[in-house]
Amino acid sequence: MNARGTVPEIYHDGWIDFNKNGVKDLYEDSTQPVEKRVADLMAQMSLEEKIGQLHQTTRDTDAEKIYKDQIERGDMGSFLAGGEIIESPLHRNALQRIAVEGTRLGIPLIFGHDSIHGFRTIFPIPLAQACAWEPELFERTQRISARETAAGGNDWTFAPMVDLGRDPRWGRIAEGFGEDPWLGCLYAAANVRGFQGTNVAAPDRVVACMKHFAGYGAAEGGRDYNTTEISEYTFRNFYLPQFKAGLDAGAWTFMTSFNSLSGFPASGNHHLLTDILRNEWKFQGFVVSDYQAIVQLIDHGVAADDDEAARLAITAGVDMEMVSSNYETLPQQIQDGIVSPTNVDESVRRILRVKFVKGLFDRPYTDETLYKNAYLRPDAVALAREAAAKVCVLLKNEKSALPISKSVKKIALIGPLADAPGEMLGCWSSRGRPQDAISLAAGIRAKLAPDSKLTISPGCNITNNTAQISRAVADAKAADVVILALGEPRDWSGESKSRTRLDVTGRQLELFQAVAATGKPVIVVLFNGRPLTIPEISTNAAAILEAWHPGVQAGNGIADILFGDASPAGRLTTSFPYDVGQVPIHYNHLNTGRPGIGEYKGNYVDAPITPLYPFGFGLTYTKFEYGKIQLSALTMKAGETLTARVPLKNAGSRPGTEVVQLYIRDVAASAGPRPVRELKGFQKIELNPGESRDVTFTISNKELGYFDASGHWLVEPGKFQVWLSKDSASGKPVDFKLE
Ligand code: NOJ
Repeated sequence: MNARGTVPEIYHDGWIDFNKNGVKDLYEDSTQPVEKRVADLMAQMSLEEKIGQLHQTTRDTDAEKIYKDQIERGDMGSFLAGGEIIESPLHRNALQRIAVEGTRLGIPLIFGHDSIHGFRTIFPIPLAQACAWEPELFERTQRISARETAAGGNDWTFAPMVDLGRDPRWGRIAEGFGEDPWLGCLYAAANVRGFQGTNVAAPDRVVACMKHFAGYGAAEGGRDYNTTEISEYTFRNFYLPQFKAGLDAGAWTFMTSFNSLSGFPASGNHHLLTDILRNEWKFQGFVVSDYQAIVQLIDHGVAADDDEAARLAITAGVDMEMVSSNYETLPQQIQDGIVSPTNVDESVRRILRVKFVKGLFDRPYTDETLYKNAYLRPDAVALAREAAAKVCVLLKNEKSALPISKSVKKIALIGPLADAPGEMLGCWSSRGRPQDAISLAAGIRAKLAPDSKLTISPGCNITNNTAQISRAVADAKAADVVILALGEPRDWSGESKSRTRLDVTGRQLELFQAVAATGKPVIVVLFNGRPLTIPEISTNAAAILEAWHPGVQAGNGIADILFGDASPAGRLTTSFPYDVGQVPIHYNHLNTGRPGIGEYKGNYVDAPITPLYPFGFGLTYTKFEYGKIQLSALTMKAGETLTARVPLKNAGSRPGTEVVQLYIRDVAASAGPRPVRELKGFQKIELNPGESRDVTFTISNKELGYFDASGHWLVEPGKFQVWLSKDSASGKPVDFKLE
């Protein structure tokens, strides 16, 4: 029975007569293997119907009316959710019904949606999630995101975004996992598992999409969509591994990136989409372009017109065209012998394969009875709170300003982000609503004893020059504890939200200075989608808690940390520069020929060359001591393993979680220099006061290899250095030799 309660003749027990011929065709038979079903269906398709499968457009509220004719003609293969608030599957089902019942072959549409860090239950932004150093937590949040996204009538999500981000000016750094490819691989795979599970056809699962393929994060000047120039060697070792990890975890789709990549736009890049993705990596799913990226090949200057843009993209390996409609030119180009029909067949085969794998030919509609109870369920909200606490990174804590006692009598909460629930959601907040979100003020209020007083003063506006700083200063003077909630607006990060300055926005620094001048110790909570430059705050605040854009449970999760009900365990996955002039700055850089600090050593005359807070950095409420690193041997043979061990002690007075980080350096490499340090492992260790533990890592050849410029994996004999340290800037290495 369909959603309207009627039983059209095409719906049978256990199968649907998509082509309405009264017979169960092979493609309609769910017991048949996918490849056979695809072949059977393709044999029945006209060229126009094939081209229709390559077309995706945006759905808005009236899409049933707007696109009815087009769907009926078989001109549409997919929709992506538009800007309107579409939370129910009714709309999807209405469109799907036109495709299934109203077209000759009844091929179901596939519906895509941008659920980057949640659908209605918004979790912390991906950059924050990586700071929890807990891919399994990310998998759980993305599993809930899949459940809600699917309940809302979507089969497919445009995530994870795995673009390596080294430049905080680039607003989309918020959507990725930071500057480390090794950690990025773990997060990419966790996201794919969270979305697709072990059976992507299940009604509460969605197809994952690895994006943006590739090199997008290296945009010149940090300006979105801008050109990138990346050597093959760097590309293979830093930018590609996360995509491969997602593919290995089972991702069924890829999205091209907008940028020109080392001389040719990614959306028409044969080397990338065919040589690497299909031939080398054997990817079997389909590639969708980014939004209008095919027609943009004209703006890039590699296609003279629509025909040429379509030709470039289809022959490079872009299967589905998002929003622009250049592929409409393909039938004529095939007839004229300019484009081979094989190209189109290949793309259609890949798209249909994914539609079958997702189960759209067995269950084309979304259950309309479930969505009302699908969002913000108690397990989702509890997880959002857990995640909001776990992503917090404690950057400073002088004289144990944190945690705050719950019996404190007067708290002054100051700053434009103190009571701003909507701002907590971050970029790409999907169907998240401000009214679902807990502000910092609400979270703190819930912790306080009835006789405690909380004053709230914004102090200034987040972006413009409006300020009432005197009220904030008066509140601070009258309080026992002062908390300042500062940062940047949520819509200053994300797509097309690049910045040239990285400081707290508007007059917030002035506000900080005025409040700090009262002499009260100031606890700063930061809300931002990228690393900020905060040298002055770093010097003068008593404590700094980096909370990012933490999602719907922001206030509760942060208050758990502020009042000691949860302990801070986050570590940075992106370096915090002192100044924007240091950008790009990342821990895993190469040495120069003149390393070190001093004249003619490549230093700045007006700033340090090191970051303010390095990759891996984060404090706890206790104190961890590291002993001497011990290796199980000083030499290692190819194919063997070695263990590295370090004694760890909680020497403080509170329980805490340490993230012990394994870094390796290959001291001399034949295909090109290796970074001064590379993360190759970590363990999150919880210890009670006085407790000690030996933390052991196994090092295998896998941790020692790298790619040459052609993508060959090399593991070379010679000297390696090993660190087991609390961040990327501390610790002393020990050496071993690979024979
Ligand atoms: C453009 C963005 O670059 C991409 O990440 C997103 O998935 C699409 N628009 C669809 O919204």
